[in-house]
Order: sequence, then structure tokens, then C-alpha cells
Amino acid sequence: MNETTKKQTLRMIENGVFVITAKAFNRCFGSTVTWLTQTSFKPPLIIVALKVGSGIYSAVKESRCFAIHLLSTEQESFAADFFKSSESDDFLINGHPYKLSEKGNPLLDDPVSIIECTVNKIIEDGDHHIVVGEVVNTQVKVKTSVLSLRDTSWTYGG
Ligand SMILES: Cc1cc2nc3c(=O)[nH]c(=O)nc-3n(C[C@H](O)[C@H](O)[C@H](O)COP(=O)(O)O)c2cc1C
Repeated sequence: MNETTKKQTLRMIENGVFVITAKAFNRCFGSTVTWLTQTSFKPPLIIVALKVGSGIYSAVKESRCFAIHLLSTEQESFAADFFKSSESDDFLINGHPYKLSEKGNPLLDDPVSIIECTVNKIIEDGDHHIVVGEVVNTQVKVKTSVLSLRDTSWTYGG
């Protein structure tokens, strides 16, 4: 297989940009991800691929639940704040305010909408493991266009 073509082709796959949060080990974690999609209507399932060894992966594996934050096209810098390792206290994750939901997930203040999931299964294959989440709560906060990877200069694929 040609490495350059493989990279070019795999980067043509369209993806969104999301911030995933979870609480475990007495602290909160947040990470920007792009490998996420819906895979079932009944029950509503979402899969997200999380990097093995990352803070967010360890947290989701431990807490068995997580929140997905959809961002607006104006929130690229918000997403960029969650590329780095998580720093959190009782009020902030990576400098962004949050509140804990009834389900125990940290919900950031400013996203367009939020989806909360419980973990049904984790498929351990490759350098990112696939977390199968069942949607248990949703909120629409603002109706506007959501951020996609193609709105940015970022790549994650290949
Ligand atoms: C454009 C872009 C997309 C990313 N998508 C994912 C992803 O889908 N899954 C993932 O696990 N990490 C993804 N990352 C990496 C995480 O954002 C980042 O490595 C992680 O939050 C750092 O946490 P750690 O220090 O705990 O490893 C992406 C990074 C970039 C720059």
C-alpha cells in the first residue's frame, strides 16, 4: 500500500469536532476528538475512538459514562484548549467552567449541545479503542452550525 495515498485518502473522511468529558479518580477530564459517529437508532448508540493511554480513555473506562459537547463554528479555540492533557478543579477543566450532571458527567458551560452516554462496551483493537456509548440524555443549548474538522486547518487521520 502506498503510504502517501493512504494518508490522503483516510483524511478525506469527513468528521466533526467534539469535546468529550468524564469524571474519574476524583478529577475531571476533557479531550477534543474527531473519531465519533452514531451507529444505531434503537437503542441510540454512538461510538468514539479514544487513544490508548490518554487521560480521557482511562477516565471513561473507569467512570463507564461520558459527555459529548458539540461546538459552534465560532468555537475553534474552545476545542483547541482540549488538545492538551486535562487540568481540573471543582469549577474548571482546562480553564472552562463546568457543572456535574445528575448522571455524574462534567458538563461544560458553552457548547451548542450535549449528549450524555453510558458505556455499553469497549472494543480493544488498534491504538485507539472503540467505546460504544448508549445515549441517555441530550440537551440543545443554541441552534447554530456545528464545528467540523473541515472548518479548521487540523487533521487527524491517515
Ligand atoms: C484534530 C485532532 C483530533 C483528535 N481526535 C482524537 C480522537 O478522535 N480520539 C482521541 O483519543 N484523541 C484525539 N485527539 C487527541 C486528543 O485531543 C489529545 O491527544 C488528548 O486530549 C491529550 O490527552 P492526554 O494528554 O491525556 O493523552 C485529536 C487531536 C487532534 C489535534
